[in-house]
Amino acid sequence: MTKTILRIDCSPKASAAHSSRLADELTEKLRLEQPDMPVVHRILAERPPAFVDSGFALAMMTHQSAEAAAEHQALQTSEVLIRELENAAVLVLSTPMHNFTVPAVLKAWIDQIVRFGRSFQSTPDGKVGLLADRPTYIVIASGGYFTGERARQPNHLTPYLRDILRTIGITDLHFILLEGLARGDLAVEEARRLAQDQIRAMPAQH
Ligand SMILES: Cc1cc2nc3c(=O)[nH]c(=O)nc-3n(C[C@H](O)[C@H](O)[C@H](O)COP(=O)(O)O)c2cc1C
Repeated sequence: MTKTILRIDCSPKASAAHSSRLADELTEKLRLEQPDMPVVHRILAERPPAFVDSGFALAMMTHQSAEAAAEHQALQTSEVLIRELENAAVLVLSTPMHNFTVPAVLKAWIDQIVRFGRSFQSTPDGKVGLLADRPTYIVIASGGYFTGERARQPNHLTPYLRDILRTIGITDLHFILLEGLARGDLAVEEARRLAQDQIRAMPAQH
């Protein structure tokens, strides 16, 4: 099966969001490097993944293989999203910071793809990821600052994303931050310039 660039946008503002507009620029660079690789684009705000329910919780324990899960109604969204991820050679995630962490739609996506027996296994030494690692670019937009000297708020976003993606086997993370976007036009310009420089300096993925 042809490998893809999988792009997941998590802002409620969809294509008008700062995070997704920067992800457009990043995806364009990746596409130029890999012209034969199709882009699969999910805008979570347009079709939010369902919250997991009791059916999911029960089925997760009894239908762990991809084949068994595909037959089970409660795991079908999870199976589609995990297969999409398995098929991606590169992952681009764009998200705002919401209340110091991930927006609810991204948490809903995470709850669907982090599945016991399918994308991670529990061992005596802890959880072990079952998916292949791949370059993963995470564009984050925030109104305030959460890194450096200007930070005045906790950051439960980047450490959480690191931990949860490691749980399923994805550790090759590249964060691109757009911070301070509520601090006026100059701050937006500065954030965009820094992020664009970072994208330009990124080595090609082959
Ligand atoms: C519900 C909600 C919660 C937010 N929480 C935070 C926050 O905790 N820290 C912060 O710096 N900005 C916060 N913001 C501001 C957004 O992160 C900021 O507007 C960002 O630029 C949005 O990115 P986007 O344009 O990609 O959606 C919040 C915005 C909303 C709507």
